[in-house]
Amino acid sequence: MATIETALTRLLGIQHPILLAPMGSAAGGKLASAVTHAGGLGMIGSGYASEAAIRKELAEAGNARVGIGFILWALDRNPSALDLALDAKPAAVMLSFGDPSPYTARIKAAGCKIVCQVQTLEQARQAASVGADVIIAQGRDAGGHSGMTRGTIGLVPAVVDAVGSIPVVAAGGIADGRGLAAALSLGAAGVSMGTRFTATRESMWDQAMKQKAVASGGDQTAQTRVFDIVRAAPWPAIYPGRALRNDFFDQWHGREEALERQQKDAEADYLAGPADDFARRVVWAGESVDLVRDIPSAREVIERIVDEAASVLQRGATLVRTG
Ligand SMILES: Cc1cc2nc3c(=O)[nH]c(=O)nc-3n(C[C@H](O)[C@H](O)[C@H](O)COP(=O)(O)O)c2cc1C
Repeated sequence: MATIETALTRLLGIQHPILLAPMGSAAGGKLASAVTHAGGLGMIGSGYASEAAIRKELAEAGNARVGIGFILWALDRNPSALDLALDAKPAAVMLSFGDPSPYTARIKAAGCKIVCQVQTLEQARQAASVGADVIIAQGRDAGGHSGMTRGTIGLVPAVVDAVGSIPVVAAGGIADGRGLAAALSLGAAGVSMGTRFTATRESMWDQAMKQKAVASGGDQTAQTRVFDIVRAAPWPAIYPGRALRNDFFDQWHGREEALERQQKDAEADYLAGPADDFARRVVWAGESVDLVRDIPSAREVIERIVDEAASVLQRGATLVRTG
């Protein structure tokens, strides 16, 4: 199969420029190790800086070289989770959704790479100034939580231009080789993918959730806070989550204050039905869910994407030569 070498693969010592996004509900040790064994870099999601999740998923990853992702506002509430993560000597620590500066010195002192996921150009400049080794530019096309303003295709080249020699990774809306080729064309050194990996054999999602992703399309997704409000998850309002719209969304989106007032009752109702009641329960998914059409292994996903990207990029080169 093809290999695409970039500043990211060289910096992280990986074969393919593909990162598994650290997704709380999907990216456990099994999926992270599968991505690493296939030549990318697997990232374990630590949920809301949960030490129990970190211990469990690191054990599940065995001796695979993986990274660990933190949601910064959650880490601020439980900073000792970072010590637990660093004790495991991860390949990288990813920080997103908040101010990374209180943590970068500790991560660097532990000899670990710092990956900052940012949602705006201003955040990218801040991440560069506090020592990020890699910057992920995440557009609002992404599945799960993201910023509200910037789309991937506009944000990535602006961040590339702003952060000098720091490798930039594109996230949001990328699920096939065309997306990887596009990201490289924008100046990125790789991609971070979430939605595509939720529907893989090794993902922690149950079969019904994976099938739901396969059966759904990007038009059905929207950014919203209602699924966080009902679970009393204190996400800053600037970071809504992209999920499949459903009856619960229709009932509460635009009525967030009312939902906040009735949170306890609404949560009891929300949790009362079966886990696969997708009219009510959240399925986080990005615009790229259009491209999720099967449930392969993580290795198959990576091999397909790299091969397709290589052929797309070569096609471009041929056109340039003959044109
Ligand atoms: C199910 C799901 C859960 C996610 N959980 C997290 C998380 O816990 N921490 C985080 O930094 N990003 C999380 N994200 C966002 C990813 O880091 C990434 O930016 C996004 O998946 C990229 O867009 P894509 O879904 O189009 O590939 C999540 C995304 C999804 C789809």
